[in-house]
Amino acid sequence: MRVHVALTPADASGLALDGWAAIAVDVLRATTTVVAACAAGCVRIIPVTDSGAARERAALFTAGEVLMAGERGGEPIPGFHLGNSPLEFTPERVRGRTILLTTTNGTAAMLGAGSAGAGAVAALTNVSAVARWALAQGRDVAVLCSGDDGSFSLEDAVCAGLLVSDVASVCDAELSDAAAAAVGLGRYYATRIGDLRHASRWARRLARKGHSADVDACLRRDVTDMVPVVEADAIVPGPAASAPPGTEGPRQTASCDVIGAVRAPTPPAQFPEGSPRTAGPQPHDVLRLAVPEGSPPTAGPPPLDVLRLAVRPGGRFGRGARPPSGDPSR
Ligand code: MLT
Repeated sequence: MRVHVALTPADASGLALDGWAAIAVDVLRATTTVVAACAAGCVRIIPVTDSGAARERAALFTAGEVLMAGERGGEPIPGFHLGNSPLEFTPERVRGRTILLTTTNGTAAMLGAGSAGAGAVAALTNVSAVARWALAQGRDVAVLCSGDDGSFSLEDAVCAGLLVSDVASVCDAELSDAAAAAVGLGRYYATRIGDLRHASRWARRLARKGHSADVDACLRRDVTDMVPVVEADAIVPGPAASAPPGTEGPRQTASCDVIGAVRAPTPPAQFPEGSPRTAGPQPHDVLRLAVPEGSPPTAGPPPLDVLRLAVRPGGRFGRGARPPSGDPSR
């Protein structure tokens, strides 16, 4: 199985995802909202590009059947029924309803996942369940990070890293460099998810706008087994990918040929010379973004060592998998 992470929307554009399983991630806040809405019993979420498209589609539904939801600049869109706070999507508000959703970054990634052979939506709140779903697909996997106004988003990369780490710990996954870098961030933040409140630019901005409760809700890990999946042009509540009794995480999935014991990563001395340069930020760039200047020293291994450890888990596959692209020369 090949695993790639598109760390920014630019990395996702041009990816040929047919035949792949694609997973959209926008921890703050759109995919967390979609997971909450599905867990609250909505019928479907239809991601749309803008508020005009939402109003047009809403006119096709009978009154009461559909809700318009979304944000711009983090604030609710005037005239819409709901904003983009996961805390608003309660059973009372959304059960049995269709939701037309438009957000700044997240809905674009969800639409991107719609072009793949199979698609799902992940956030920190359901990350392990989505890893189980990904393993059950028996396809190559691409994680599409929504980013932050086109640039790198730390919380999305961390979520992608936790997801890929789970997948790679069970089956013989061939990771692209971007996926390996995300795994490094996932491992670094796995025991300090709360630090993202300060380390994430959008988290700081949301808090300044008075949405701290949303940030708290989005930074909770594995509170549901709900996996929203892509179905035609919508996202519907998928089967709960619950962990087999007595097992944490996706250790015993039948659909993936488990190769021997979980392989401990062999830390390479240095990033191998000539590693293919991926389109996205290089590991050092990711790191510089991940650990802002002047951050208080934290317990545990320095992030750079974590990242080095992350690159080429198991060190088995030469120079990293190629991202899914139609153009073989890329
Ligand atoms: C986005 O899609 O850019 C975010 O979900 C915006 C937000 O947090 O409301």
